Amino acid sequence: MENYSDLIQQTFNVPNADFDVKDQQLWFHGIPLMDLIARFETPLKFTFIPNIGHKIETANRLFQKAIATHNYQGKHIYSYCTKSSHYRFVLDEVLAHGSHIETSSAFDMAIVKRLYQENKIDKDVYVLCNGFKRPLYLEYIAAAINQGFHHCIPILDNMREVDFYTSHIERDFLLGIRVATEEEPNFDFYTSRLGIRYKDVVPFYQEKLAANPTIRLKILHFFINTGIRDTAYYWNELNKFVYKYCELRKVCDTLDSIDIGGGLPIKTSLSFEYDYEYMIGEIVRNIKQICDEEGVPVPNIFTEFGAFTVGESTATIYSILDQKLQNDKELWYMIDGSFITHLPDTWGINQRFILLPINQWDKPYHKVNLGGLTCDSQDYYNSDTHSAKIFLPKIEKGEPLYLGFFNTGAYQDALGGVGGIQHCLIPSPKHILIDQDDEGKLSYSLFAEEQKEDSMLKTLGYV
Ligand SMILES: Cc1ncc(COP(=O)(O)O)c(C=O)c1O
Repeated sequence: MENYSDLIQQTFNVPNADFDVKDQQLWFHGIPLMDLIARFETPLKFTFIPNIGHKIETANRLFQKAIATHNYQGKHIYSYCTKSSHYRFVLDEVLAHGSHIETSSAFDMAIVKRLYQENKIDKDVYVLCNGFKRPLYLEYIAAAINQGFHHCIPILDNMREVDFYTSHIERDFLLGIRVATEEEPNFDFYTSRLGIRYKDVVPFYQEKLAANPTIRLKILHFFINTGIRDTAYYWNELNKFVYKYCELRKVCDTLDSIDIGGGLPIKTSLSFEYDYEYMIGEIVRNIKQICDEEGVPVPNIFTEFGAFTVGESTATIYSILDQKLQNDKELWYMIDGSFITHLPDTWGINQRFILLPINQWDKPYHKVNLGGLTCDSQDYYNSDTHSAKIFLPKIEKGEPLYLGFFNTGAYQDALGGVGGIQHCLIPSPKHILIDQDDEGKLSYSLFAEEQKEDSMLKTLGYV
C-alpha cells in the first residue's frame, strides 16, 4: 500500500513555499515542527511572526503595481483590522510595516492609547472606527480626536451616531459613512444590518452633514461579508458602491477616499488558488473606469485586511492521544484539544484549515475522523476543503502521531476565547512565538503557558 507521502505528492505540490518534508517530517516556513514539539510539547499553537509582515508587504506591492499600471491618481492605505487578532505581538509587527488601524470596540481604543504611550504610533496614524458603538466607544473616539489624533475617523454605522460627535468633539474632524451592502442571494437577509442604506447616503449628507463646518466627510466605506472573490456578485456590489462614491463626491468636495473593507482570502487548503494580482488589479481598474466615466477624481483606497494579515502566521498542533474503532468503518483519532474551543470556526461555520501530519509520512494511511476532547458530539473534524474524507498515517506500535492545523491565526482566539471558561473546561493551549533575524536564524519564545486550573476556578467563583 502507498504511504502518506505518496498520497500527498500525487495530489498536491509539496514541497512548496510554505511546507517541506524532510526525513518524513513536516517543516513550515523553515521551522522543523518536530523539534518544536520536542521542545514545547502539544497541544500548542505557534505564530511565525515574519509571515504577518510579508502579507502586508505583498498587498502593498500589488496595490502599488496596480496603481502604476492604471495610472491611478490615488493612494492605497493599509489599515489592519484588529479584531482578527488583537495580540500585541501582532500589532507590533503590523505597525512596523507601516500599517494603520481599523477598530471595532471601545477596548480597541484602549489598545490604540497604549500603543501611542509606547511610541508605536503617533497622532498621524489612521484609526478607522467601525462598528455599532456603545457610549464608551463613542467617548473614547471623541477623546482621541480631542487629544489630537486628527486621523481618527469614526465610520458612521447609523445616522444618529454623528450627533454624539458634533456635541463632544471640540475641533474639526474627519468622518466616514458605511453603506449597507446587499447580502449574497442565498443569505438569510437582503441587506446588511451594518451601515446606512444606499438610498439614504446622499440625502443624509446634504441634510445633516454638509452645513456643519466642523465635519469633513472623507470616506465612504463598504464591506462584502463573503470576501473579495471573482464573482458577479462581488463586482456588482463593488461597482454599485463606486457609483455611490461618485454621486456623493459630486456634492461633497471633502470626500477623497473609499474603504473596501477586508475579505482578501487565505490558504485553507493545499489546492487553494487565488490570483491576488489579478483581483487587486481589477479592483483598481474598475474604480478608475467608473470615476473617469463619471468625471470625478479617483479616491484613495483604504483596506482593512484581517484574515489576510494574520491568518497564515499561526498553526495549532495536537498529538493523537488514542484511536477508537466505534464500528466496522468509523475510526476515531482523539486529539489532545478541542475543535469547538480552540478552532471554533470549524464548528460554527464549517471552516476547513490545512491539516497535515507532522511525522509518520512514510506510513500507510487510512480514513479517520478526528475527535475533540469535549463531550459534545459536534466536536469533530472529518473533511477537507478538497475532499469529504480525511486520510492520515496509520499509527503503529503506539508510535506518536502529531497533527497540524495551519493558517489558524485569524479570529479563532477571539471567538473561542483565551484564558476563560470553555466547554468541558478544556484549557487554552500554550502559545509559542517564532521570529527570524536577517540571517534567517529562528528564535523561539513562550508567549503563554497552557491554561491552568487556577484561572478557571477563579472565574467560576471558587477562589
Ligand atoms: C468592517 C470590517 N472590516 C474588515 C474586516 C476584516 O475581514 P477579513 O478578516 O475577511 O479581512 C471585517 C471582518 O469582519 C469587518 O467587519
